[in-house]
Amino acid sequence: MRLKEILLLAIVSGAVAFFSEKAVGQSLREYADQKKILIGAAVEPSLFKEPAYVATLAREFNMIEAENALKWAAIRPDRGTFNFKPGDEVVAFAKQHKMKVRGHTLLWSEYNPAWLTKGKFTPSQLSDLLHEHITNVMKHYAGEVFAWDVVNEVFEADGDVEPSIWYDQPGIGLNGQGTVYVEKAFRWAREADPRALLFYNDYDTEGLNPKSDAVYAMVKDFKRRGVPIDGVGIQAHIFNLSTKDIADLEANIARLTALGLQVHITELDVGLPLDAKGQVANAVDLQRQAEIYRFIAAACLKQAGCTALQTWGFTDKYSWVPGFTKGAKGAALLFDKAYVAKPAYRALLSVLKGRKRSATSGTAPRSN
Ligand code: XIL
Repeated sequence: MRLKEILLLAIVSGAVAFFSEKAVGQSLREYADQKKILIGAAVEPSLFKEPAYVATLAREFNMIEAENALKWAAIRPDRGTFNFKPGDEVVAFAKQHKMKVRGHTLLWSEYNPAWLTKGKFTPSQLSDLLHEHITNVMKHYAGEVFAWDVVNEVFEADGDVEPSIWYDQPGIGLNGQGTVYVEKAFRWAREADPRALLFYNDYDTEGLNPKSDAVYAMVKDFKRRGVPIDGVGIQAHIFNLSTKDIADLEANIARLTALGLQVHITELDVGLPLDAKGQVANAVDLQRQAEIYRFIAAACLKQAGCTALQTWGFTDKYSWVPGFTKGAKGAALLFDKAYVAKPAYRALLSVLKGRKRSATSGTAPRSN
């Protein structure tokens, strides 16, 4: 074949692939729009140069969140500099494709720059730094980021508050006072951008367990005392193919939304065992993975207060799971490395397509 013919063939087969994908039916975002739920994915703005990445994202999702670009280490390379450029690219992409933007995150024990963690700051200096950070970042994205994970992952599995730079090492001056430092961050956040929805976000909090009980107790107390909070993020990083640990997800969402809080599923992925070559070890696992996606999506869709469902990335080409599990697990997302939809995608699509949203259980207190 001559070069011209090869090029023509490539264009034609690309078009066929594109239209046959469309012919399969509507996208996740089209069904999600009908059901008035947000369907999101975590993104890396450096990948916006990859056409398949952009096309899939724009076609399937109505919300995005920076996977890393808004974290301290990314946005705050040194004490005096705020690097908003990658975050601004996420916002621009969302505008171009009519998507909402979630923000992640303003206070976390991880992904902090060395100048901060090794800086030997006093509690009062750390308090000022955190206050300044929350204020500057939220003001920069005011009107662009509609919801923020203000605080991320502060509890241990047993429900105790985890040691961290912000709590007790040395902390912002509220060491030993449980979640009072979390409360402080939420108050600063509401002052910085009164229109943004403020979320607490954590992992291993899908079912009813000591950790999700601790989250529930904290947010219930916040609501009772008027501490500003609008929602709880349930990360849903799943590494177990049985639904045992997450069986109570629906009940957990119900008790949180009964407080007048929204729930977002924020970081859904389902890691599968990989063989030595990095391939899915067992073909049956893809189906089991699909059932987990179906289970989680159904638990969310059933309740009006569960207003967003987001996956942590969307293609197995780019996922934190293999790195995090040292190669043991992977293939955790909706699309394979070639952007082909997996059984998990079809399961999610069918849930979004099928179920009527309940108007009774749970409330969505703030609608922006
Ligand atoms: C992860 C990212 O996916 C990685 O790229 C990064 O190296 C570390 O952070 N819980 C969270 C997310 O709240 O911010 C984490 O994201 C995954 C676990």
